[in-house]
Amino acid sequence: MKILAISGGRALGNNELLLRAALKAAREVYPAQVELVRLHDLDLKRCVGCETCMRGLTTGGDGKCVIQDDDMGWLTRQIGGADALLVASPVYDLIPTGSMVNLVNRALGIGKQFQAQCRANPKVGAVIALGGSDWINLTEPVIDLTLCNLSKSAVVVDRLIVGHNPAPAMVVLDDAVMERARLLGRRVAQALLKREAGQPFGYEGEAGVCPVCHCNLLEMRGGGQVACPYCDARGRLAAVDGQVRVEWDADSVEKNRFTVYGETEHRKDIGLGHRRAAEHREIIQERARALDDFGGAVIRPERQG
Ligand SMILES: Cc1cc2nc3c(=O)[nH]c(=O)nc-3n(C[C@H](O)[C@H](O)[C@H](O)COP(=O)(O)O)c2cc1C
Repeated sequence: MKILAISGGRALGNNELLLRAALKAAREVYPAQVELVRLHDLDLKRCVGCETCMRGLTTGGDGKCVIQDDDMGWLTRQIGGADALLVASPVYDLIPTGSMVNLVNRALGIGKQFQAQCRANPKVGAVIALGGSDWINLTEPVIDLTLCNLSKSAVVVDRLIVGHNPAPAMVVLDDAVMERARLLGRRVAQALLKREAGQPFGYEGEAGVCPVCHCNLLEMRGGGQVACPYCDARGRLAAVDGQVRVEWDADSVEKNRFTVYGETEHRKDIGLGHRRAAEHREIIQERARALDDFGGAVIRPERQG
């Protein structure tokens, strides 16, 4: 069995050290093969928005990304061969690093065949988000998104969110956080053992507000309606014994955005948008042409050669 860890942080920085501690602890429970990938070591080109992958996914093709001359194929193969995936990222301006966010976009083009392979044998997942202060709010759900997009149907068993570590490697000063990272590693290994034995395994970390993804963010949708902005589970705010709580709608929990149902609906929605655009091609061209002259020019830097 293999556990793969992906770090979006500095080499031997805080995130990498938490991953190392988790991997080491995991191996004390189960002697899995463990490997660590630094996003900084990889050549991962940016998504150019051609939508070849989405067109493939919505029209019966494989949906593979057109960019084939970088390290995404290599990374996908490493993920394909892993039974568990740990993803960690520093917080950069409230969200994960640009390289981590780029990976979410590139994960859209991993191809249907790869997705089916992942779904047939769901991986164990765990997420770490670490920032230099307490400005860390939006990071963990996006790392979770990266992990789930990269390994369709991974079961996230734990998440660790840490602030106040601005200097490289200083997280090792905090015994409680290091122990929490080790616990995350042990939970991953225990889940792998359960998976191997054909037993059910699931989330073991701290309860968040959302019953699906356990994140603590809520989107206000008016009229007392709320939703998890990440997985789109929906509910209604209620006051119980002087406390505000969310009464979750079981159907939207069951059919959340990251289920096969949610994904199929999403693709239908995109398909509808494309059909509408095709039906109105001439109007679109005419109205877009009317903006050719916007009173200025598109500018770009001059390049040599
Ligand atoms: C461009 C940039 C933006 C940052 N923004 C935040 C932030 O919004 N919140 C925060 O808590 N830390 C922020 N940090 C600090 C990093 O999260 C922190 O240094 C962390 O320890 C880096 O992790 P690493 O050692 O694994 O690379 C930022 C750092 C950089 C370079």
